Amino acid sequence: MSDRIIVFDTTLRDGEQAAGVLFSQKDKLDIADRLAAMRVDVIEAGFPAASPTELRAVQAVARHVRTASVCALARCHPRDVDAAAEALAGAARPRIHVFVNASEVQLEHQLRRGHDEVLAMAAAMVARARDAVGDVEFSPMDATRADRAFLAALVRTAIAAGARTINIPDTVGYALPHQVADLFGHLREVVPEVHGAVLSFHGQNDLGMASANAVAAVRAGARQVELCVNGIGERAGNTSFEEVVMAIAVHGASLGVHTDVDTTGIYPLSKLVEARSGIGVPANKAIVGRNAFRHASGIHQDGVLKHRENYECIDPARIGHPIGTEIVLGKLSGSAGFAAKARQLGIELGGGKLARAFEAFQALADRQRDVSDDEVRSICAVLDA
Ligand code: KIV
Repeated sequence: MSDRIIVFDTTLRDGEQAAGVLFSQKDKLDIADRLAAMRVDVIEAGFPAASPTELRAVQAVARHVRTASVCALARCHPRDVDAAAEALAGAARPRIHVFVNASEVQLEHQLRRGHDEVLAMAAAMVARARDAVGDVEFSPMDATRADRAFLAALVRTAIAAGARTINIPDTVGYALPHQVADLFGHLREVVPEVHGAVLSFHGQNDLGMASANAVAAVRAGARQVELCVNGIGERAGNTSFEEVVMAIAVHGASLGVHTDVDTTGIYPLSKLVEARSGIGVPANKAIVGRNAFRHASGIHQDGVLKHRENYECIDPARIGHPIGTEIVLGKLSGSAGFAAKARQLGIELGGGKLARAFEAFQALADRQRDVSDDEVRSICAVLDA
């Protein structure tokens, strides 16, 4: 038995909260189009109360996307909920995502409201959103640092007011995987009402734990994960879409879960978000980084040439990678990698030529970071001269 994990993409909302990112309406439409084509379940398109431009952009996505749910964010203010409802008016499957601060530190130093007041705000705004669109998600912000009794009361209140999805945010990327699992286990135990709702996880990456935390949440009962393409987002970013979707694709059988996402769209989607967000993907980024399927050292090159799975746990074709497994020549490369590269360039190195060419290659590789295809051609041409 495999449970479906609802993939909630928030690249257009929390991803846009990354410093220096500004998505135009066209960017939002193009990215949403790609997400919908990949069968992502929910697209959080933005925060309509932020500005009239943002409201119009969310509205455009809501009118355009017909398959996925389109979601809009709202604080616990009537104005926010009404702006979200207005933006979603043309959506085929609208969802409003209502949130409120839940941790003591944020209640005291940001919201400046007491528990009873916050419970009343949550009840009223979830009900208002439910009356507007039916499908309501509720997030007690900073849940991983919240007082557990208050968190449980907030979750209970939101469900009673009509929230169908309860999202547990690790807002400052504070939690470790075992703590996330423990919190989900605790909520499932003390708030039996959550069994009638969908539990969700939303993580930030301040400690580099966001993807591991999302997997821990899934193992502990979450059936929705909130993700951003390339892991972009506030500060150190959000849980990376490609990491969690591929972790589930690779380990779905042992986790007992799957997603409906067409993973072959991942690489083109990553490139689209990189171009439109202006945030470059680091070369060593899992799944979509430039080096993710490039092999530079002799032992790994030899192994991957004999059998790709010796040194890769993902077939690059599964993420729509246009190049796939690649041998990159450098100081640590061996003769197997060098010979394979020459063959790939149409050069046959018979007789004693391979040993001599490899010697010339090593002399060059000792002096520079990598050796290009043209340099391999030149090395081999000199032998033929
Ligand atoms: O990081 C956060 O807590 C959020 C919530 C609104 C889900 O973005």
